[in-house]
Amino acid sequence: MNVADSELVGGILAGEGYAFTSELEDADVALINTCAIRDNAEQRIHGRLGLFHAQKRRNPEMVVGILGCMAERLRERFLEKEHLVDIVVGPDEYRRLPALIDQAFSGEKGIAVRLSRVETYEDIEPLRTEGVAAWVSVMRGCDKFCTFCVVPFTRGRERSRSLGTVVEEVRTLAARGFRDVTLLGQNVNSYRDGTYDFADLVRAVAGVDRSLRIRFMTSHPQDMSDRLIDAIASTENICNYIHLPVQSGSDRILALMNRTYTVEEYLQLVGRIRSAVPGVSLTTDIISGFPGETDEDHRRTVELIEAVRYDGAFTFTYSPRERTRAWEMGDTVSGEVKSARVTEIIGLQQEISRGINQRFVGTIEQILVEGPSKKSAQEFTGRTGTNRTVVFPRAQEQPGEYIPVRIVRANSATLFGART
Ligand code: 5AD
Ligand code: SF4
Repeated sequence: MNVADSELVGGILAGEGYAFTSELEDADVALINTCAIRDNAEQRIHGRLGLFHAQKRRNPEMVVGILGCMAERLRERFLEKEHLVDIVVGPDEYRRLPALIDQAFSGEKGIAVRLSRVETYEDIEPLRTEGVAAWVSVMRGCDKFCTFCVVPFTRGRERSRSLGTVVEEVRTLAARGFRDVTLLGQNVNSYRDGTYDFADLVRAVAGVDRSLRIRFMTSHPQDMSDRLIDAIASTENICNYIHLPVQSGSDRILALMNRTYTVEEYLQLVGRIRSAVPGVSLTTDIISGFPGETDEDHRRTVELIEAVRYDGAFTFTYSPRERTRAWEMGDTVSGEVKSARVTEIIGLQQEISRGINQRFVGTIEQILVEGPSKKSAQEFTGRTGTNRTVVFPRAQEQPGEYIPVRIVRANSATLFGART
């Protein structure tokens, strides 16, 4: 979401004549887009600002801006704490950036953190680097108010773009050579444009060009409709991949989290998805150490992971966030216990992922070529329709092509292929 927002900011500034540089020494304006979801994300930003200090000493004219959720959360506290920061801009106020930057050039600090009920930036073309994969934001904000989560406070209420502008943007992307489009929102399943829901949107986007792969995230289990499952099942180029965060395997903790489903309901949903979309890839998010989480609650999470056998899981230690309801519940699980639980879950998931990936050895997968692998120029990477990364020896293929690759080896994170 933040990558997409940074591209949006790039689009707004490009419209004012700014150009992008990745070299801090060349920059007249340095902007950091921030995340507030857990304390360690915020600590990294304070660390990163250290780099800016040295540059600001060399070039005192450089304007430094903090964007995004941490700006929204800390507001003027940011200007008080970090003296080198000139502007603080929340997620719904990016249109004011050019004016705030101008002001900052004449020495005036600025802050813009009003949240909006309508802003979707749907008329702004994001500044994207050319490539194969693109993010397209379709809705912003969240009304779910999970008790651990700061997002409803930093990104405000849910609002959706019109279906027409999303389809138009995807048409442009297809014409530019993009092949992999991920529709983004905090809770995409509550997308709404008049009578159109998210299933209508995904179908419409997939119909733009059948050589595009369409994915989306994130889905809240409560809003995962049968219509959407049906759209995935019946549309070839909607990827058979769903990120479906469960957060905990204990009904008691799920209730305290205000997740609005029970383990049984979640498992029924997984069952419906799997029978409608055979071979579907499912991933999840888990929080370990929510206030009051006992060993028994943790056991239930482990059992749920074993029962579902996810294709992947992102596991986080609970981080108390001010203003949330869970903040009032304290932070009762020690850091040590949280880490031990996370370590156990990560180990278990790696084993499951390795087992699942092993079953691909010997099969032939149709992959979308993305480009050179991180480790070697002789190797390329691509992805399967179920979002698995495949590394394979490079031949003549170009990024954006679909090719068949025979899988010869696998570990928990990657499949390795040979050309067929
Ligand atoms: N502490 C730890 N993890 C959190 N997440 C959201 N809020 C918190 C928090 N306070 C996790 C959830 C969510 C993912 C994006 O981040 O698992 O799905
Ligand atoms: Fe946060 Fe996601 Fe819950 Fe919304 S649905 S409050 S973004 S965890």
